[in-house]
Amino acid sequence: MCGIVGYVGGQCALDVVLAGLRRLEYRGYDSAGVAVLADGGLASAKKAGKLANLEKELADRPLPSGPTAIGHTRWATHGGPTDANAHPHLDNPGRVAVVHNGIIENFAALRAELAERGHALGSETDTEVVAHLLSEAFSSCGDLAEAMRQVCRRLQGAFTLVAVHADEPDVVVGARRNSPLVVGVGDGENFLASDVAAFIAHTREAIELGQDQVVELRRDGVTVTGFDGAPADDVRTYHVDWDASAAEKGGYDYFMLKEIAEQPKAVADTLLGRIDAAGSLTLDEVRIPDSVLREVDKVVIVACGTAYHAGLIAKYAIEHWTRIPCETELASEFRYRDPILDQRTLVVAISQSGETMDTLMALRHAREQGAKVLAICNTNGSTIPRESDAVLYTHAGPEVAVASTKAFLTQLVACYLVALYLGQVRGTKWGDEVRGVVRELSVIGAQVEEVLATMEPVRELARSLADKNTVLFLGRHVGYPVALEGALKLKELAYMHAEGFAAGELKHGPIALIEKDVPVVVVVPSPRGRSVLHDKIVSNIQEIRARGARTIVIAERGDEAVRPYADHLVEVPATPVLLQPLVATVPLQVFACELATARGNEVDQPRNLAKSVTVE
Ligand code: M6R
Repeated sequence: MCGIVGYVGGQCALDVVLAGLRRLEYRGYDSAGVAVLADGGLASAKKAGKLANLEKELADRPLPSGPTAIGHTRWATHGGPTDANAHPHLDNPGRVAVVHNGIIENFAALRAELAERGHALGSETDTEVVAHLLSEAFSSCGDLAEAMRQVCRRLQGAFTLVAVHADEPDVVVGARRNSPLVVGVGDGENFLASDVAAFIAHTREAIELGQDQVVELRRDGVTVTGFDGAPADDVRTYHVDWDASAAEKGGYDYFMLKEIAEQPKAVADTLLGRIDAAGSLTLDEVRIPDSVLREVDKVVIVACGTAYHAGLIAKYAIEHWTRIPCETELASEFRYRDPILDQRTLVVAISQSGETMDTLMALRHAREQGAKVLAICNTNGSTIPRESDAVLYTHAGPEVAVASTKAFLTQLVACYLVALYLGQVRGTKWGDEVRGVVRELSVIGAQVEEVLATMEPVRELARSLADKNTVLFLGRHVGYPVALEGALKLKELAYMHAEGFAAGELKHGPIALIEKDVPVVVVVPSPRGRSVLHDKIVSNIQEIRARGARTIVIAERGDEAVRPYADHLVEVPATPVLLQPLVATVPLQVFACELATARGNEVDQPRNLAKSVTVE
């Protein structure tokens, strides 16, 4: 949800900022812009559309070269994706430039106030008021960091702001509240960005800014204060454990293809170090004492989108393995329904980015009510784990494609680990049972590899369906959230009408959608273990087939009972019933990616979306 970069140092600042924006384009791609301090003044350029439009503009009309610059790639909230609404926004004399991620809720009142004092504002954005307020504050205090602190104290909402002023040519100032901002610490140069990916090619040393902090960046130093001006006492530098190559496409046409292919390793990495030599679970990171976990009488999982689907699957495992009641709830709905929570509730917040505002607000609400919060997150040092009581990191590495793939599989692994750990601590699972599931989990990476090696027929099928308008997805038990995830992938990538249903719900309405040749993907549970589930879904397949549906059946290898009813059969390796989503989701990711490609869509940057949703 908007990418921000700032740089001060010995390199050509504009080049550094543009390279950073390229890495952050996944966060928003409605428009892009830059501002450079050079020759005692400030020069800027901005363009609606993708970064390439801005790059063309800069090739046609180059900006001067200087040591200090800021840049922005936008996902529009206030005002459409036009040149005028693109960031940076400037004050009237053109001395201050500011870029912003988030929403300034009181911008209308501030705008009216500025207009009364004679300021002319030319955009529809909430951001522009900040440039004008900074300009006024700087005129009276002559210090950009102090001006930023004064302005931030007046703002309501969520914001990351980064600004430069022509009168302080070697300074970049940033501020954050409820929105991410990371400092990259270099040698004689420093960086600011929404995500470490923007500066990972230059430095792997980073500082995560805290809530309500202002940072002043110079070539040779970084100063962090609170909005009140008090020096920050929690400034901590950390080392980023992946390098620039992890954020490159590595020979694939799309990040999504690369990330799908990385899943076996991501799954294995997420298990690494969490299982001891005897095969038992050791989740040292879960700093919630066992005594507290033993008292938990309810688990509530909050998450959005794909992470929510991981949470829906986790519910089955948690309830089955621990016998603790578990609810999975959309984070965006959670706090508004006044949920019943207390000290004995464990809230699990799942988020790849660790920035999703709905999830962050849900966990804050949970903590206010006294619940303990455990985050499952892929982004080291991001806001959600920082604000949780404990965190279990997934080790998927950077996920750049907007459509989540490897993060989902690793979220599932982390959820299974949490469920088993709760079972282990509470004694609802014997040690040998835990070790048995852990053994099954440790072969999943290889099984995902097997699935990936057999995907050509799925790609071929996807291409043959490129002109369809609708694809439906059915599943039962843990196959139901897999169906929802398959439908979400298709919606966001192929822009098709795609819906997931619990197969048992079919006859309560959705079966009316079935007509001749409508493709229906059915996720079939293993015939071993839960034969009743299997038999029921085989009947469902027959029901839709009798009404003309074209059935695409995902089933365990060797499941001969479904073969007669499958127009297309996609076989996946045998797993325990609860773990099947780890292999059954992969063909659906490949299917959506190929269908989107066949329809000529932008796979990594689908329309209207952004990778991190940092506004509610
Ligand atoms: O970063 P998060 O895991 O909190 O993001 C949650 C959703 O926005 C995300 O999973 C979204 O649904 C994906 N684009 C789906 O592919």
